[in-house]
Amino acid sequence: MGLPGVSVAVVVVALILNAAVLCNGGITSSFVRKAEKTVDMPLDSDVFRVPPGYNAPQQVHITQGDHVGKGVIISWVTQDEPGSNTALYWTEKSKHKNRAEGIVVTYKFYNYTSGYIHHCTIKNLKLDTKYYYEVGIGNTTRQFWFTTPPRVGPDVPYTFGLIGDLGQSYDSNRTLTHYESNLKKGQTVLFVGDLSYADDYPFHDNVRWDTWGRFVERSVAYQPWIWTAGNHEIDFAPEIVYNVKRTIVILLQGETIPFKPYRHRYHVPYRTSGKYTPQYKWLEKEFPKVNRSETPWLIVFMHSPWYNSYNYHYMEGETMRVMYEPWFVEYKVDVVFAGHVHAYERSERVSNIAYNIVNGVCTPISDQSAPVYITIGDGGNLEGLATNMTEPQPLYSAYREASFGHAIFDIKNRSHAYYSWHRNQDGYAIEADSLWFFNRFWNPLDESTRWDVL
Ligand SMILES: *[C@@H]1O[C@H](CO)[C@@H](O)[C@H](O)[C@H]1NC(C)=O
Ligand SMILES: *[C@@H]1O[C@H](CO)[C@@H](O)[C@H](O)[C@H]1NC(C)=O
Ligand SMILES: *[C@@H]1O[C@H](CO)[C@@H](O)[C@H](O)[C@H]1NC(C)=O
Ligand SMILES: *[C@@H]1O[C@H](CO)[C@@H](O)[C@H](O)[C@H]1NC(C)=O
Ligand SMILES: *[C@@H]1O[C@H](CO)[C@@H](O)[C@H](O)[C@H]1NC(C)=O
Ligand SMILES: *[C@@H]1O[C@H](CO)[C@@H](O)[C@H](O)[C@H]1NC(C)=O
Ligand SMILES: [Fe+2]
Repeated sequence: MGLPGVSVAVVVVALILNAAVLCNGGITSSFVRKAEKTVDMPLDSDVFRVPPGYNAPQQVHITQGDHVGKGVIISWVTQDEPGSNTALYWTEKSKHKNRAEGIVVTYKFYNYTSGYIHHCTIKNLKLDTKYYYEVGIGNTTRQFWFTTPPRVGPDVPYTFGLIGDLGQSYDSNRTLTHYESNLKKGQTVLFVGDLSYADDYPFHDNVRWDTWGRFVERSVAYQPWIWTAGNHEIDFAPEIVYNVKRTIVILLQGETIPFKPYRHRYHVPYRTSGKYTPQYKWLEKEFPKVNRSETPWLIVFMHSPWYNSYNYHYMEGETMRVMYEPWFVEYKVDVVFAGHVHAYERSERVSNIAYNIVNGVCTPISDQSAPVYITIGDGGNLEGLATNMTEPQPLYSAYREASFGHAIFDIKNRSHAYYSWHRNQDGYAIEADSLWFFNRFWNPLDESTRWDVL
């Protein structure tokens, strides 16, 4: 934020307060991750293999297609020709093959031309039912399956996986493998943004969007991944222009449409929220719609964290926090997941909404109506780990560790959910950090193991 001049005095006050309670800071894990380079898997890696057969569907992925889970968006890419937009789907019992027609899109990025990207929404599915589906009709077909979620209800258990900033390094592969092997089986992944990191390559080499799509297919073709866009999805690159003729280069525009590859590849059901409006207007209408008697757990996920005690992306989420945090407290959000910072951190329940620029009240305080903030940007991309932390550890920070990993949020009923974070260096069953979450609406007890000082 750009107001350092006016806030110097209050920052100093905050620092003094922190110093006085230094001994009560949270846990900075003593686990020291072996220093090693995080490198991307080469193009000829097993995980990037193109499926065999003429025009075979590849990069198959699904996401939830409506509000209650009766719709699924199936997406896939064909490389040789557009082929069919049809998806066939059937249940284990009926065997009758239903058909749905989708659409096909392509895009160009610098000198890259995409394959034929298909998106097909299938609707009116039975809940809590295993479906098979088949794409590539007319050429090489491939079959997959998924299970629809149970009917919405206050005590319906459901298990989310949490992955962020994944990329396509050897560490990314380890994160995904651990998520798949976790004994607490995730049913849907909440992905907190930064997918392929293709933009880290010269000219944003979009081939790395394709390799990423093939890499994660082994999970996302079988269970929905619900997307948040991160900064690596923007792909805004006005500087890359065709260097055809020096004299006309200056007249050519580079890639100036933000989110072009991401929006062509990852369709989401934004229309089911009623309207496509700017985010603030949308969220203002969305929060009051949540009926905690039907869906007790209110989870928000975003890319840039609001509470982050690593020396990276300092206050990048601050404008958003200032606008939205009062609503998060008012509507008693249970937990907020973010990525962006390539490490792990869990906060206490805190808020920082009393500050009005002049009153000096700018330190986060313990607040049992506030969410727990979790940074889970530790998927393992080629940019490596964020290791540099602010010292001393701020009071709001309950646990932090610079390791790659994934997490599971396991909803048991309206009052309890079990959360665990798993670092890649351990076996997938080991929980490096965990917490019983008590629902803010139904069971708003203090579940913190510390923060006994304020
Ligand atoms: C695109 O341009 C880059 C840089 O000039 C080059 O390395 C790459 O091979 C080109 N790719 C295609 C598909 O032409
Ligand atoms: C591939 O599938 C499309 C659509 O069904 C069809 O028109 C085309 O003839 C097929 N191509 C081959 C080589 O089978
Ligand atoms: C990625 O992980 C899978 C599953 O553990 C393994 O079979 C595969 O060989 C790994 N690939 C690379 C390039 O690490
Ligand atoms: C919330 O859901 C419950 C249970 O379905 C229902 O009885 C109640 O009327 C709903 N509240 C509102 C405000 O819609
Ligand atoms: C950690 O970050 C701080 C603040 O940006 C910086 O002053 C310090 O030099 C960094 N330490 C290391 C070891 O990079
Ligand atoms: C909710 O789940 C927790 C944890 O499994 C359990 O202890 C509690 O008894 C459950 N509550 C109800 C009302 O079933
Ligand atoms: Fe990011």
